[in-house]
Amino acid sequence: MRNKYAVIFVFIVALVIIEKENNIIARVSDKLTTRQNPHTPLKPTVSSMDPLKPTVSSVDPMKPTGSSSSSSPSSSSSSCPPREPSTTVQPPGRREVTLTEAPRRRRDVGKHILLLAATRTGSSFVGEFFNQQAGTMFYLFEPLWHVERRLVSAPGGTNSSVSSRTYREVLQQLFLCDFSLLERFIEPPPARHVTAALFRRESSASLCEEPVCTPAVKDVFERYHCKERPCGPLNFTLASLACRRKAHRAIKTVRVRQLEALRPLVEDPRLDVRVIQLVRDPRAVLASRMVAFSYKYKNWKVNGEVPIDDEEVKRLKGNCESVRLSAEVGLRRPAWLQRRYMLVRYEDIARYPMQKATEMYRFSGIPFTPQAREWIRRNTQASSEAGGVYSTQKNSSKQVEKWRFTIPFNLAQMVQKVCGPAMKLFGYRFVYNEDMLTNKSYSLLDEKTFRFV
Ligand SMILES: *[C@@H]1O[C@H](CO)[C@@H](O)[C@H](O)[C@H]1NC(C)=O
Ligand SMILES: *[C@@H]1O[C@H](CO)[C@@H](O)[C@H](O)[C@H]1NC(C)=O
Ligand SMILES: *[C@@H]1O[C@H](CO)[C@@H](O)[C@H](O)[C@H]1NC(C)=O
Ligand SMILES: *[C@@H]1O[C@H](CO)[C@@H](O)[C@H](O)[C@H]1NC(C)=O
Repeated sequence: MRNKYAVIFVFIVALVIIEKENNIIARVSDKLTTRQNPHTPLKPTVSSMDPLKPTVSSVDPMKPTGSSSSSSPSSSSSSCPPREPSTTVQPPGRREVTLTEAPRRRRDVGKHILLLAATRTGSSFVGEFFNQQAGTMFYLFEPLWHVERRLVSAPGGTNSSVSSRTYREVLQQLFLCDFSLLERFIEPPPARHVTAALFRRESSASLCEEPVCTPAVKDVFERYHCKERPCGPLNFTLASLACRRKAHRAIKTVRVRQLEALRPLVEDPRLDVRVIQLVRDPRAVLASRMVAFSYKYKNWKVNGEVPIDDEEVKRLKGNCESVRLSAEVGLRRPAWLQRRYMLVRYEDIARYPMQKATEMYRFSGIPFTPQAREWIRRNTQASSEAGGVYSTQKNSSKQVEKWRFTIPFNLAQMVQKVCGPAMKLFGYRFVYNEDMLTNKSYSLLDEKTFRFV
């Protein structure tokens, strides 16, 4: 009899303890939700839509903040995370209980994807992954172009702390569908919020479709006019309305140099920001620049030798260092970036486009539409029937290695010298002679896993 009561007593005590625990958890989670982002736990499991198995786990199993073991693997889990902590089975010591709460707060603001890259890293291509679903996505291609131009021509030249703050503020407003600050940087100034001069308007599907595409106006020259059909000059009032109607926003930029400077943007409770940093082998970047801006590199080719104080060499070094420093901030996973930072190598996207896109979408917490998948499929693979309709499409995994045959070995060596630390961080292998550079059986990529959440 006694034993029976003892058992019941212990049972009640256990219940009380569990209840208390839940209260504590609930309180902690309330605190966390105000600041930290919690996000839908990303699943390391394979999406049912994608037959390819990701090699990169999106979750660090060593971290207590890892994935939920209970949420559905489908993309819908991002918008509707499991709400009741008590109904989910949690491994002891894990924190997802608190993390699953947060999406509630930011759910209805949609997602704000910032694609952060350096020039010639394939960011236009990767930006299309998001642009290709204009139904739910408002995508802007490099709006900071206008800002940089004005800052550079400002009296006294650029001041990096001022420009990074300005970039951040413009991005912040754009994510909120407010174009007023950006308008102040556009030349010539928009008249009644209408401009014919928005940089690369045609690269934003949302700016070239109804209702933002107004009837074309005669005799107005628009340099970046919509390609699919003629549209009138861009009315920012309409653009803003269209932006608000879309579920998500994405911006591609190559102008943000320090991830750290984005912290207030990421912490803005009105936003739900995801930063995707895109990197590429700096030797490939240089090879690509040498084609695109050949005039800058004339002297190099002639002499075969590169002056180490050359402006372009300094630029390259500066770029590599800022990319590396930003990535180090992200990979260190500070609390403000928890689940909001992802590092992607362009080479991996080129080799496994569908898999990488799936990972990026899953990370972003937005559904990967058939429309976007189809675009990626068409633009990354040669058709199996040679000479077929897709024969002009690039086989991206082939393209991505082409630079190995265009860059002279001494330049590859120079890049390794000035970008060594960045290359090591991202897993780009050095070459020590011409043969290593041009022999494709020698891979220049370490199979690297970036544990980004
Ligand atoms: C940039 O501007 C800020 C504020 O105007 C000033 O405090 C800072 O010293 C400037 N930095 C440089 C490098 O000129
Ligand atoms: C821009 O669009 C808004 C909303 O439709 C409209 O009220 C405004 O008149 C337009 N601006 C110009 C200059 O046409
Ligand atoms: C693309 O090129 C790579 C490397 O040559 C090859 O392995 C792959 O099968 C090609 N893919 C397609 C779809 O042609
Ligand atoms: C390329 O490297 C592979 C393996 O290292 C070697 O077997 C092959 O002979 C090399 N090819 C050339 C053209 O040097």
